[in-house]
Amino acid sequence: MQQTYIITGATSGLGLSLVKQILHDGHKVIALVRNIEKMRALNLEQQDDQLQIVPCDMLNPESIKVVASHLNHTTLDAFIYCSGVGYFKGIEAHTTEEMLETYQVNVVHFNLLFQTLRPFLKNNASIVGIGSQAGFATQAYAAHYGASKIAFLPIDECVTS
Ligand SMILES: NC(=O)c1ccc[n+]([C@@H]2O[C@H](COP(=O)([O-])OP(=O)(O)OC[C@H]3O[C@@H](n4cnc5c(N)ncnc54)[C@H](OP(=O)(O)O)[C@@H]3O)[C@@H](O)[C@H]2O)c1
Repeated sequence: MQQTYIITGATSGLGLSLVKQILHDGHKVIALVRNIEKMRALNLEQQDDQLQIVPCDMLNPESIKVVASHLNHTTLDAFIYCSGVGYFKGIEAHTTEEMLETYQVNVVHFNLLFQTLRPFLKNNASIVGIGSQAGFATQAYAAHYGASKIAFLPIDECVTS
């Protein structure tokens, strides 16, 4: 049976690979992206209604709330949170903006998006958030990235377990 996945981070890396596989398997994808043109340039819209591209800047709480207005009567079978950021440099070199962006995109705004999507998620919907080994093993130049990933873990577990 065809299912509907909503996914962030769809323009690149793991998220893009997942989108390609899910479309290949015949399911619907709602891709939440900050750069619509970047997503369109990937030419994944082979089937008329299989891929819906929705603007969403995960740094912007208003942009996250507006996602609901694009979903109409959609019922979501799965939510995959693949967007993530990291500034890989020493802690003395991080700007305030870089630190805040890291925790907002990797932790806090996941929670805002979950709140926005909750009315649309099936009771037994699959919810997947992407952590990182950097949260468990301290790595050079990855302190704030790692800290954000370990902070994400209990929040992710609240909604995935
Ligand atoms: N790559 C690794 O080695 C690795 C290892 C462990 C865990 N992870 C985690 O796995 C996930 C995916 O990693 P990846 O390497 O595949 O990612 P990536 O290629 O760096 O792509 C990151 C994605 O997040 C999106 N994104 C970043 N900031 C955003 C924002 N403000 N609003 C909306 N989208 C935003 C990017 O969109 P744009 O295209 O618009 O920039 C892009 O689609 C991340 O959570 C990452 O932390 C990665």
